[in-house]
Amino acid sequence: MFMKFPHLKIGQLVPRYPIIQGGMALRVSTAPLAAAVANAGGIGVIGATGMTVDELRNEIKAARRLTRGIIGINVMFAVRQFATLVQGAIEEKIDLVFTGAGFSRDIFKWGKASGVPVVSIVSSPKLAAIAEKLGASAVVAEGNEAGGHLGTNRSIEEILPEITSRVKIPVIAAGGVVDGSGIAKMIRLGASGVQMATRFVLSVECAVSDAFKQMYVKACADDVVLIKSPVGMPGRALRNIFADKISGGCAPKPEFCDACLKECSREYCIIQALRNSQVGRVDEGVVFCGKNVHRIKDILPVQKIFDNLVKEFDEEPD
Ligand SMILES: Cc1cc2nc3c(=O)[nH]c(=O)nc-3n(C[C@H](O)[C@H](O)[C@H](O)COP(=O)(O)O)c2cc1C
Repeated sequence: MFMKFPHLKIGQLVPRYPIIQGGMALRVSTAPLAAAVANAGGIGVIGATGMTVDELRNEIKAARRLTRGIIGINVMFAVRQFATLVQGAIEEKIDLVFTGAGFSRDIFKWGKASGVPVVSIVSSPKLAAIAEKLGASAVVAEGNEAGGHLGTNRSIEEILPEITSRVKIPVIAAGGVVDGSGIAKMIRLGASGVQMATRFVLSVECAVSDAFKQMYVKACADDVVLIKSPVGMPGRALRNIFADKISGGCAPKPEFCDACLKECSREYCIIQALRNSQVGRVDEGVVFCGKNVHRIKDILPVQKIFDNLVKEFDEEPD
């Protein structure tokens, strides 16, 4: 017997495959990537953190022109514009909203009033239970293998069974999944789907600079480090000149600050650092990535990535 994909239902949304492309801030996941994932049968997610509400509206419109599939946004609760971005996306009739790094009661009220499912990204059973109680339609359980800001130092394999046994809503596993056998492992541990980000950075459709993608392609396991972020959470990224400056306490202080985050140590500007790497100034920026980045060596069209994932998954024994 071979494995079968579980039926992932978030509110009334049922993607063909239970594969979500994780939202990536500062224009790493924009309309072309999200739409390609939606067209391939997954859920495509626009990273809204770092966008103005007008930019986000335009990105959603652009994605809609490219696909009739399922499109969501991801926004970090830590950004001051959180409410404006979520409400703007709801007005644009986004299919669902993912919130990272925390949530408030309000978001579930807005989701309920508009019929838009809200999915909370959590790293502990306690937070998963709170999200369910407040009205989350699903949770993403994110382990320490994930790229970007991290909410735990525990692995996805440790936290996933604890979270699935605590809530009734679907649990989507995230962190370190780069292939079909990784998906199968998460399904065996009780996940209803997976969220993957690093694999989709190395796609033709991902909007980051070639310099960013080349850092991924050339990465070895030892190049993946944890950095201190002014947001107050550690972040998983590739070691480079900028990461060394952060660990040495000599990253450049912000030149300009519009207080875009609710809380920030102002040790350096994480937004500017992410923007720098997105446009190709990787030596002056933070290159977020998941722990298993070294296992991906090819830049492929999203459809081909999906074909490979499905084939690898189908070959997994039950
Ligand atoms: C470049 C990059 C940017 C990210 N930005 C965000 C973000 O803005 N919001 C968020 O909730 N998660 C963010 N993440 C986390 C991903 O959405 C995802 O949950 C995680 O990376 C999954 O692990 P994987 O990359 O090993 O597949 C980011 C990850 C990467 C690699």
